[in-house]
Amino acid sequence: MKIISVVGARPNFMKISPFIKAVNNHNTQHSINHILVHTGQHYDDSMSKAFFEELEIPEADVNLKIGSGTHAEQVGQTMIAFEKVLKAEKPDWVVVVGDVNATLACSVTAKKEWIKVCHIEAGLRSHDLTMPEEINRLVTDRISDLLLAPDNLSVENLRSEGVPESKIRFVGNIMIDTLEANRVKAEKIEIVDIIKRNNIDSRLMMQDAGKSPANSFEPERDDFAVITLHRPSNVDSMEVLGPIVNFLTDEVAEDLLLLWPIHPRTKKMLAGFGLSEKIAQHKNIILLEPLGYLDMLRLNMGARLILTDSGGLQEECTVLGTPCLTLRRNTERPVTLRDHGGASVLVGNNIGVIREEYRKALSRRRTPVRPELWDGNTAERCLKAILEYGQ
Ligand code: UD1
Repeated sequence: MKIISVVGARPNFMKISPFIKAVNNHNTQHSINHILVHTGQHYDDSMSKAFFEELEIPEADVNLKIGSGTHAEQVGQTMIAFEKVLKAEKPDWVVVVGDVNATLACSVTAKKEWIKVCHIEAGLRSHDLTMPEEINRLVTDRISDLLLAPDNLSVENLRSEGVPESKIRFVGNIMIDTLEANRVKAEKIEIVDIIKRNNIDSRLMMQDAGKSPANSFEPERDDFAVITLHRPSNVDSMEVLGPIVNFLTDEVAEDLLLLWPIHPRTKKMLAGFGLSEKIAQHKNIILLEPLGYLDMLRLNMGARLILTDSGGLQEECTVLGTPCLTLRRNTERPVTLRDHGGASVLVGNNIGVIREEYRKALSRRRTPVRPELWDGNTAERCLKAILEYGQ
């Protein structure tokens, strides 16, 4: 059997790593011909290469080097380049993960070449078509042959859309395989070292603002919060990003040390809106480069709370029990919400709501929860489903 797996952007890497390990385990006795294709949507070392190294993902066999662009540019160029790979390699299966542009582009291209498509993380729905990821999820699930769902709510979504039972498998959350495989390693990292290694332009910030955050931080005593933001709906307009930054500087960072690993999109936007200075000068906010997997996991394990618009972090917070404020109006991962027993609460980008939930979260204790089959063995079930389906 020949399988091509596809990755394109940061959130894909922690999903493909366990799958490739499962293929390699299987190959000690059998032989699957596996090819890894990286579309190149994320290309900075901190957004891509660092994850390959830490998560022991073998170098991609093919890199399409698509890079940044509009959605149409990214999807169109990926399709043109991926079609050539498919024609040359003629795989039995294309495995796509998640909901990024690579997921959409490669599933559509494969299906038009009559190649079977397996979608890992199928059935998530935000029901919000203003999210590009929702379009990617809907299209990918509509054409996939095998839909591997992370939770029962996703299975229900697929059923209600009329997907035949024969295509759906409930396998659990593959990202939690990566979390479980790396928990012990992450625990050993000192938080102060994460800050020292990743502090953005620390010398400049210290001179300008007269602070030395990495030296003054004592993790045993100090509480810290973490924020990550990257969604266009939060960072692309001053009307939304400005009040969020004010809330962080004037309120959160007055209570707690705030660690902020910055996504490239957000970094550009903060600079463009003239907001970087205010953040850099606050003695209790530390801006960090985009973090590697282990560093982020370590912060999540120690944080008093996390504010985020990332889907993956919502899931990791649920398993680790970290109180999580999700700065979105909706989520495709309702299983992570407190209403469903998870650790996260939707707060949108209304400061009044964020403030209220922030106050509540401060007094909340860390309560780990494990949704069904988020047990670290999902990748094996994914591969089993493909093998049972056959060539
Ligand atoms: C993409 C995914 C999103 C995912 C996110 C995680 C889609 C539609 N979106 O959004 O679902 O949550 O990845 O990061 O696929 N840039 C760099 N270096 C890089 C990559 C990007 O500087 O290595 C900058 C570029 O200016 C680029 C911008 O970040 O234009 C946005 O990157 P892009 O790949 O378009 O989308 P993300 O916002 O990262």
